Amino acid sequence: MKKRENWTSNVGFILAAAGSAIGLGNIWRFPYVTGTNGGAAFLLIFLAAIIFIGFPVIVAEISLGRNTAKNPVGAFKKIAPDTPWWVVGGLGVFTGFLILSYYSVVAGWSMSYIFKAINGFTPGTDFATLFGSHISGFGVPLFWHAAFMLITVLVIRAGVVGGIQKVAKTLMPVLFLILITLVIRAVTLPGAGEGLSFYLKPDFSKISIQTFTDAIAQAFFTLSLGMGAMITYGSYLSKDDNISDNAVYIIGFDTLIAVLAGLAIFPAVFALGFSPSAGPGLVFITLPGVLAEMPLGSFFGFLFFLLLSISALTSAISLLEVVVSYVVDEKGWERKKAAQIIGFIIFIVGIPPILGYSSLSGFSFLGMDVLDTYDWFANNIFLPLGGLLTSIFAAYVWKAKNMMKEANSAPGKITLGKGYEFLLKYIAPAGILIIMAFNIWTTFVG
Ligand code: PHE
Repeated sequence: MKKRENWTSNVGFILAAAGSAIGLGNIWRFPYVTGTNGGAAFLLIFLAAIIFIGFPVIVAEISLGRNTAKNPVGAFKKIAPDTPWWVVGGLGVFTGFLILSYYSVVAGWSMSYIFKAINGFTPGTDFATLFGSHISGFGVPLFWHAAFMLITVLVIRAGVVGGIQKVAKTLMPVLFLILITLVIRAVTLPGAGEGLSFYLKPDFSKISIQTFTDAIAQAFFTLSLGMGAMITYGSYLSKDDNISDNAVYIIGFDTLIAVLAGLAIFPAVFALGFSPSAGPGLVFITLPGVLAEMPLGSFFGFLFFLLLSISALTSAISLLEVVVSYVVDEKGWERKKAAQIIGFIIFIVGIPPILGYSSLSGFSFLGMDVLDTYDWFANNIFLPLGGLLTSIFAAYVWKAKNMMKEANSAPGKITLGKGYEFLLKYIAPAGILIIMAFNIWTTFVG
């Protein structure tokens, strides 16, 4: 059998994992969730969610992967053979499959907006109508969805070091530079201050139970937790690297980029006299309007949608890798063939979300279109469920002390102790359970 690939350096792992974490969740979702949920007040709750739930779960996932050197299904099987726990890994593989199918559709919108920006956004255009007619087309969104999946497949085909690590090492610095450029441009616009205060001014009156559940859901999605991505990436990590230190870097970069994304968007939105909207409308409708009015808007628009597309690519890579590593390890498929076949199936599963804006527009699940329905199940059910079961597994089946031994095996700045054990055994599972119950309750009952 071929030897399992390892990242060639610790930095390679951190960039790949940060690449997975940093995605549409940071650049498109985080800013508007923060802006509409009480600004800095939300940020504080989000940071608490990251520290008390995100950190224990990400460390547990990476440790599970590194200890077993296996895909999510294989990892659970190796630690608890002859038990049904492998189903948790299976759920992760399924979730990766599901998320990628619609993630790629949105990434495709972003790619096509790169070209719309290059051609220039004309002032006075009704950008809501433009966006509506873009997504309700068939051929164009399908083409970009296919293009995005193709690029993702090509990276995964090239392997862990030659594909994933190489792309992360090249693109993550580019992503950072673009974002910094955009932030500098935005905050130096005359009138930027109002946007800054909208984004960050703490407004505690906006805090409700919903804010906490939003913060925890955002923490899972943005850190790529609960579906085995960090198990898979951890499985390629060398025994010499310290897991907790790495987790802190990943979380730190992810949070930094999310906060910066808001700094690139809101000051510009307010400076040019627009009002912020929520959801996809913020980047695909409001922002083009802003760019149309801004000097060099075409250039900055090009940079912004390039940034969004790059962030989506490094996340999509991790989603596909979860599924590919599973069929490679467990079913003995060859990597290239696996990447192609699975990439193609995911492409097909992504067609209904596209059609949800045209021929399937009659579809509605609790008032949501197809894409939002896929997203709802992933975010509200599968990711938290995966995270819950993974933390229970690590704490009680594998046992916290064994898991911590793996995490502490290489020397680093952080050594996990009693405090961590408490988070993993009680706080994380209880916190996740509460938000899941609340989400299901508010959706179906109250
Ligand atoms: N973390 C990614 C983002 O913020 C999304 C993602 C979720 C990627 C789960 C992999 C696994 O966009």
